[in-house]
Amino acid sequence: EGLFTYDPGFMATSSCQSAITYIDGGKGVLLHRGYPIDQLAKESDFVELCYLLMFGDLPDDSQYENFKSRITNHTMVHDQINNFFKGFRRDAHPMSILCGVVGGLAAFYHDHLNINVQEDREISAIRLIAKMPTIAAMSYKYNIGQPFNYPRNDLSYAENFLYMMFSNPCEKYEINPVYAKAMDRIFMLHADHEQNASTSTVRLAGSTGANPFACISAGIAALWGPAHGGANEAVLNMLDEIGDESEENIQRFIDKAKDKDDPFKLMGFGHRVYRNFDPRAKVMKETCDEVLAELGLADDPQLKIAKRLEQIALEDDYFIERKLYPNVDFYSGIILKAMGIPKNMFTVIFAVSRTIGWISHWHEMISEPYKIGRPRQLYIGHTQRDYPAS
Ligand code: CMC
Repeated sequence: EGLFTYDPGFMATSSCQSAITYIDGGKGVLLHRGYPIDQLAKESDFVELCYLLMFGDLPDDSQYENFKSRITNHTMVHDQINNFFKGFRRDAHPMSILCGVVGGLAAFYHDHLNINVQEDREISAIRLIAKMPTIAAMSYKYNIGQPFNYPRNDLSYAENFLYMMFSNPCEKYEINPVYAKAMDRIFMLHADHEQNASTSTVRLAGSTGANPFACISAGIAALWGPAHGGANEAVLNMLDEIGDESEENIQRFIDKAKDKDDPFKLMGFGHRVYRNFDPRAKVMKETCDEVLAELGLADDPQLKIAKRLEQIALEDDYFIERKLYPNVDFYSGIILKAMGIPKNMFTVIFAVSRTIGWISHWHEMISEPYKIGRPRQLYIGHTQRDYPAS
């Protein structure tokens, strides 16, 4: 008793074995089932990546078509789900809606779900991947007071999401292929990242045998924080606050981030594992340049601030010594904003993408013998004392 390793923040603890994702933080390497993220982002698509993460290998043509059609067959949510939304204030943050509604899905898929049966695990995964964009788009529509759109199964995963977000009954909505490609890439770049805080949360919740929809809701809650998935929204808030690309303004924020008496951190910078560069950030930056150029927004003032900020930080001893580099979320918000997506939806989009990572890890854990996650602690409180006699 009492001889447990004390490791706050799990700096040196492997909580599980996994064959899904490999990261070499020193070299800036990220592999999904062995395939480098930059190759996948450029050559594959999100649905194929979902298959790869979940089942371990790339699908052949018929496996791909079958998987895609299973997803499109489950994009609709039960009509009763609409009632959930009405309980939220119109201005509720869409992440709070997502936590609630996805947790609520457990009520629809519980009694007949046996997590020890492979088909039941698979159908739960398919339902989640399929319904997340629907619920995400509904949370946006609810915010802006527009009617919900039903999913359209003739569209690709990314196109359907954009359609549900932006189409309304009064206007014909044309999906911009540049947006659809960028959206698909953003989904891919956030799909999985081994034992990050939200995935570890899903595994911990799942290790009790809890309903998978409830476990994913726990993951969404963990993702929301600005140190994790909430960083993409926080980056845009920071760029808004900086205001313009004047050296003086940018330096003020750099100095604030370096000041140990100030809790402010440069949002979109730093990572627990990457100590060289974040390979996702590299692809995201390229995508940002491509998308903004294609939209004629290469002179976007926020893009300019971001680039100058990155340049100044990368030359600053504070960031060099601590090996702090831009992470995946530094440029994603700029792309999303250029596509007309409001800031409070950025982390929701991260959650849509990460759902496949969460559920693949849950599936991997449940498929093998596993133990309930139960960390120990270093007790620093009172020794036993007597309750005062009356
Ligand atoms: N700005 C200023 N200083 C920083 C930053 C930053 N963004 N990130 C880390 N540091 C400093 C930190 O203060 C510490 O300094 P010192 O050694 O003097 O005490 C040193 O660098 C090491 O950082 P740490 O906090 O011990 O590192 P961590 O692994 O515990 O935290 C992190 C990693 C991502 C939470 C942190 O870098 C951070 O808060 N970054 C900003 C938020 C962000 O962009 N998060 C998105 C992460 S990537 C997407 C995702 O996976 O969700």
